[in-house]
Amino acid sequence: MNFYITTPLYYVNDTPHIGHAYTTVVADVLTRYHKLFGTATRFLTGTDEHGQKVQMAAEKRGVAPQEHCDLLVQNFKAIWSELNIDYDIFFRTTDPLHKRAVQEALTQLSDAGEIYHDEYEGWYCVSEEIFYTEKDLVNGKSPNGNEVSKVREKNYFFRMSRFQKPLVEWIESHPEFIQPESKRNEVLGFLRKPLEDLCISRPKSRLSWGIELPFDKDYVTYVWFDALLNYANGVGFLQKDRAAEFHKWWYPPEGGALHLIGKDILNTHAVYWPTMLMALKIPLPRTIFAHGWWLTPDNEKMAKSRGTGISPLDVKNLVGVDALRYFLTRDIFLGNDAQFSVDLVVSRTNSELANNLGNLHSRTTNLLIKFFSGRMPEVVSVSERTQKLATLAQQVPALVRKDIERMAPNLALGHVVDLLNEANRYLEERAPWTAAKTDLPGAAESLRAASEVLRISAMLLSPVMPTKMKELLERIGWSAPFGFAETTQWNLLATGAEVKKGDPLFPRIGS
Ligand code: MSP
Repeated sequence: MNFYITTPLYYVNDTPHIGHAYTTVVADVLTRYHKLFGTATRFLTGTDEHGQKVQMAAEKRGVAPQEHCDLLVQNFKAIWSELNIDYDIFFRTTDPLHKRAVQEALTQLSDAGEIYHDEYEGWYCVSEEIFYTEKDLVNGKSPNGNEVSKVREKNYFFRMSRFQKPLVEWIESHPEFIQPESKRNEVLGFLRKPLEDLCISRPKSRLSWGIELPFDKDYVTYVWFDALLNYANGVGFLQKDRAAEFHKWWYPPEGGALHLIGKDILNTHAVYWPTMLMALKIPLPRTIFAHGWWLTPDNEKMAKSRGTGISPLDVKNLVGVDALRYFLTRDIFLGNDAQFSVDLVVSRTNSELANNLGNLHSRTTNLLIKFFSGRMPEVVSVSERTQKLATLAQQVPALVRKDIERMAPNLALGHVVDLLNEANRYLEERAPWTAAKTDLPGAAESLRAASEVLRISAMLLSPVMPTKMKELLERIGWSAPFGFAETTQWNLLATGAEVKKGDPLFPRIGS
């Protein structure tokens, strides 16, 4: 099965904060794991550039919308590069290729009778770019507490209501479609009320920044209708020369998208998008996975608009890119909320990277240098205790893989942490620093076993911390490429390989 993962396309109204970095880092980590497992992968991220929110941001800065987008996109790309994000596709909704495909989709839907013209009267929330009805509002605001304004205009509608029943049936018969289960239940709850048709246009007289409707030049396409199509367009939908590619990534059983999103945009992804696809007669994504939010210390969603957005680069500058990626993968259960604070990042980095991993690494290399001239020693016999550690280590890769495949990366990392803890205990028991003086082969056996745990752990952690784990592997004498098979085998480090000394990979932060 191929692995095609997407992040939301972020609005280019501001620079990304930790929340945006989170989705993108997790998507990158999952992609790198699937690559390690030997799967064909594709990873799409990008920017959502049309709509009122972006138009207003451009106006505020006194520049034309396209110019504004071109500039802000550079911020996203630069930050993703600093965070070591290895995407295959950076999708921009102002790309002419996307415009053509959106217009083609609209033409098809209009020809099929799925679109009609009518009066729209209701409320619009610019910060969410969502239409609300009177009864949706809570104390005069959107259900999420954002400002709304009254809208009354002639618009085009997509006959979304027609697809309510097939959508409910699909969700009920495909448990993997909306995850986690609590979110699936939320969507099913929402679909218990009658589903209305979806307004899919804005008159140019109100909003000019968008993709023109192919059948009425006085209108632009509603931004969500335009943006959601990116996921399919990015892999070739409605582009004649890319039909095979589209098939490969989109069509089950080999293809099928995994949309990783925040829970703030669940309905647009789990209701608008699948009904659009049903009307277009193409398969639905395999999974829409809604993760939780990073919260401020006051337990509110971290958001730029509330002034609580923390810059990922500030955190990176403090702990380094790999430790930040590790924290974002490790400290939150995908699907739940968790608090974000620099103190929490520092404490996780110190306990698991500087102490647990760092101690095992520095003790092992220091002793190898001291007693074995920095060369991986030969092992003559293997004790039961060492065999026990080896057996444990060889069980870890399958556990990691299982948790990655079931979207629990924090637990996947937990298995490696447990192994490292066990290896530290093993060294304490075997005390090679004392043994070396009386039983050199015994010390060789312990240090080699510890090195093997380090090798396996570094390989299994490399999707999360590509740079530091590559360095760790090189320092213990491994510089060859590797795949999942190498993580499952014991004793692969070559006898005589050079062990290098160096500064701690993860220096302790703070006092
Ligand atoms: N443009 C739309 C998405 C269109 S997809 C076709 C959008 N953009 S956004 O810039 O507002 O990004 C929202 C996404 O950013 C969330 O779904 C989530 O992935 C991420 N996050 C923003 N704040 C977040 C937190 N505080 N915590 C975790 N993730 C959050 O919505």
